[in-house]
Amino acid sequence: MSSQPLVLGIETSCDETAVGIVRGRTLLANVISSSVEEHARFGGVVPEIASRAHLEAMPFVIKQALREAKVALRDIDAIGVTAGPGLIGALLVGTSAAEGLALALDKPIYGVNHLSAHLAVDALDESRSLQPAIGLLVSGGHSSIIEVTDLAKGVSVLGATIDDAAGEAFDKIARLLELDFPGGPAIDRLAKSGDPEAIDFPRGLQSSDYNFSFSGLKTAVSRYLKQVPSAVKADVAASFQEAVVDVLLTKAIRACTEKGIDSLLIAGGVAANSRLRAEAQRRCHLAKIELRTPPAALCTDNGAMVAALTSLAVSGGVSPSTIGFSTLSTVPLDQPTWS
Ligand code: KG4
Ligand code: ZN
Repeated sequence: MSSQPLVLGIETSCDETAVGIVRGRTLLANVISSSVEEHARFGGVVPEIASRAHLEAMPFVIKQALREAKVALRDIDAIGVTAGPGLIGALLVGTSAAEGLALALDKPIYGVNHLSAHLAVDALDESRSLQPAIGLLVSGGHSSIIEVTDLAKGVSVLGATIDDAAGEAFDKIARLLELDFPGGPAIDRLAKSGDPEAIDFPRGLQSSDYNFSFSGLKTAVSRYLKQVPSAVKADVAASFQEAVVDVLLTKAIRACTEKGIDSLLIAGGVAANSRLRAEAQRRCHLAKIELRTPPAALCTDNGAMVAALTSLAVSGGVSPSTIGFSTLSTVPLDQPTWS
């Protein structure tokens, strides 16, 4: 294997069938096929539909990624695949494909943690050296503040949501506002024409720890919509979004200051939110903190992040997984890969 491993990463934890290829920290290909439209009429991801769609899309997505990267399958040094958390049936399609490839190519395989992979995508920005950071991981299932030192070996979780995740809150409020699924991007779009100060929604759990709570905010929005039938939806969306952004950034920046770490890495699907990105830029600048946010397309689920974490694991001398490793619907954040 050359000093820069050529890694193929497969992601199928939810509704995206995604394959990324990296060489070391260089992104060569990132191909995504989404079954989101097949789930839209149900207002949420239907696990069996997602699994079937993965099975159909997988061969084409792998071939397309190899074409984009201009590499041959036989040149791949290691295979990475999301082993959890996620929908078990969906994960099994990805892990089966990955294990088949690893066996056929006789190459190592790494079952990786989807959550660590969200953070690891930051490694693909080669202009930066990998250094300690406070991670704000905000996805459909998680909202956590993390101390990141070595992603391939583990992270320490400083705090997490005690109820809904940030993305879940976006999705639930979007449903109340009768917006399209998935709700996060729909609220992001609608909020652009609304007034973020129109409604003073509660900020929830302003405690001195690093935990979050979004259920009170959800109840407040629901109550407001019942009490004010003439509510301007764009104002509700913008004010709700502002409350989420405020809470997330207040605690994340406090974690940087209290831990003496001057770098904030924001990752996960909600990190694609335009208001979160803009406000993070403003607050980090004021606090003299370096802000690291992957491009929006690499914040939502993709295969490049799985390849990136696998590449860090290979370079860091982490032992590969053994064929037949478990897929897990829930996994602690501090376990980046497992055997
Ligand atoms: O990381 P991700 O793609 O999948 C999980 O691992 O969960 O995150 C999905 C979540 C969904 O809740 C989606 O509504 C939210 O990220 N999301 C957004 C935006 N784009 C995706 N939330 C707010 N603004 C966005 N632009
Ligand atoms: Zn994700």
